[in-house]
Amino acid sequence: MPKVSELRRVALRVPDMEAACAFYETVWAMDPGPGASGERSYRSRGENHDDLLLVPADGPGLDHLGLGVESEAGLHAIVRRVRSAGGTVLSEPAPGSRAGDLLVAAVADADGNRVELIVPSQPSGPRPIRSKRHLGHAVLWTPQATQQEAFYALLGFQVSDRTHIGMSFLRCNTDHHSLALAASRNGRRGLQHLAFDIGNIDDVMREYARIRSAGADCIWGVGRHGPGNNVFAYFRDPAGHVVEYYGDMETVESAEVAQVRYWGPEHKGDIWNIAGAPPVQFRDESPSKETP
Ligand SMILES: [Fe+2]
Repeated sequence: MPKVSELRRVALRVPDMEAACAFYETVWAMDPGPGASGERSYRSRGENHDDLLLVPADGPGLDHLGLGVESEAGLHAIVRRVRSAGGTVLSEPAPGSRAGDLLVAAVADADGNRVELIVPSQPSGPRPIRSKRHLGHAVLWTPQATQQEAFYALLGFQVSDRTHIGMSFLRCNTDHHSLALAASRNGRRGLQHLAFDIGNIDDVMREYARIRSAGADCIWGVGRHGPGNNVFAYFRDPAGHVVEYYGDMETVESAEVAQVRYWGPEHKGDIWNIAGAPPVQFRDESPSKETP
């Protein structure tokens, strides 16, 4: 069954482009890409394509997710599957206008988030030979987790783990998750956070020190998550988006042996119990109090 094979891009809306660029270049240590008119693109150091896009806007938030599809035939098949399931196709497969996008179609997920399905002009390659640094996952708030899970299942995502606070962790390759959904009782939707895989625990600790010396405060971490087993540290960009660095994420090599695990209320988000409570941005408050 044709499916999405990676989280390829997160596009963020930023009200202050210069402040955002300074953060992602200097603090987050990403390399500038070509960008389209008015937009700025960035790639994780060593990666072969842009994986962060900054789009000028009046307010912050998610502009779109970009998901990689390995072939043109696969892209057409996924678009047909979304349409036949009653989903919204925003644009048919067509040549992409951004660097590295050979072919792009756009669909809307159950919450109306724009999801671009991208056949890359240069494949990212199998996991083991990928750059150590790359865009790793995104987490979306959703007031309708069941419908969102069903939508992402159409794209080929499988559930790895669930938690007692209504999170579901979804994988599309051997990484434990490339996407996660955070259930909201208060109508929140859109991006909760985006995250970059930088390798292992030593890389996270070195980066933690470097980022703090660059003037950014860690808002949660360092700790180790239960679902995914990754070592994490969370920060905020100038627009208020929560961004994470992590390492040592669990891999799922065989779907046949994978079992969906459930993390109950005894799990507080950090299996080391040193990181403290999750940050205020992760509380399920009403959208009026929401920071992106
Ligand atoms: Fe995360």
